[in-house]
Amino acid sequence: MPKVRTKLVTWDEVVGWCRELAEKIEKSGYRPDIIVAIARGGYVPARLLCDFLDIHDLVSIQVLHWGKAAEITAVAHVKYPYTLDLSGKRILLVDDIIDTGDSVIVARDYITKHWKPAELKVAAMQWISPVAKIKPDFYVDEVKEWVWYQYPWTRAEDTTNFFEKIVSERAKEGKTEWSFDELVEEFKEWYGIDVGEAYYRLALRRLLESGKLEERDGRLVVKSE
Ligand code: ADE
Repeated sequence: MPKVRTKLVTWDEVVGWCRELAEKIEKSGYRPDIIVAIARGGYVPARLLCDFLDIHDLVSIQVLHWGKAAEITAVAHVKYPYTLDLSGKRILLVDDIIDTGDSVIVARDYITKHWKPAELKVAAMQWISPVAKIKPDFYVDEVKEWVWYQYPWTRAEDTTNFFEKIVSERAKEGKTEWSFDELVEEFKEWYGIDVGEAYYRLALRRLLESGKLEERDGRLVVKSE
């Protein structure tokens, strides 16, 4: 059994979900003038929705919130606050997933206050209903049991963070030396997914470059803090 419920998401699934999302928005009669992508997770879905809904105006707002390896660390806030005049415009605010809802709430409140749109509706591919503080106006999947969606745009980052988590947790139990294959096997066991060799190599390179792991006699050694 994996330790962290994780779903490996393919690019084809993303395209399918966004097509479905666009259909729901069209059917509702809501006609956005502009899409606002929540950076960074909302970028790809927002761009696909522009295509499927034939919307040519796209801006973004960056909200910081999530820490490493699927753990919440900071209070959600707008990273680069700026002002736009969107008076009279109907906005579609887009993120990949509504988890706690904090990112969307912060973005929505900031936009409403500072950009003054006529209307704002929220769209996301996934909505984790038991934990979310907000229900999006449009979504594809209601997720009833918390899962980490391993989207293609965070594959390198997630793999690196997941490796780091494995290595630091196991170091507490005294395991401070790894082979590449052992690390990959443990990754598959903990997360129940396989992201492929290229991502494992990339993640390992990042951990070596950041000094979290060291190579000694062909073994990967955990650097003590
Ligand atoms: N970002 C915030 N929550 C997430 C989740 N459950 N899966 C993937 N990305 C997320």
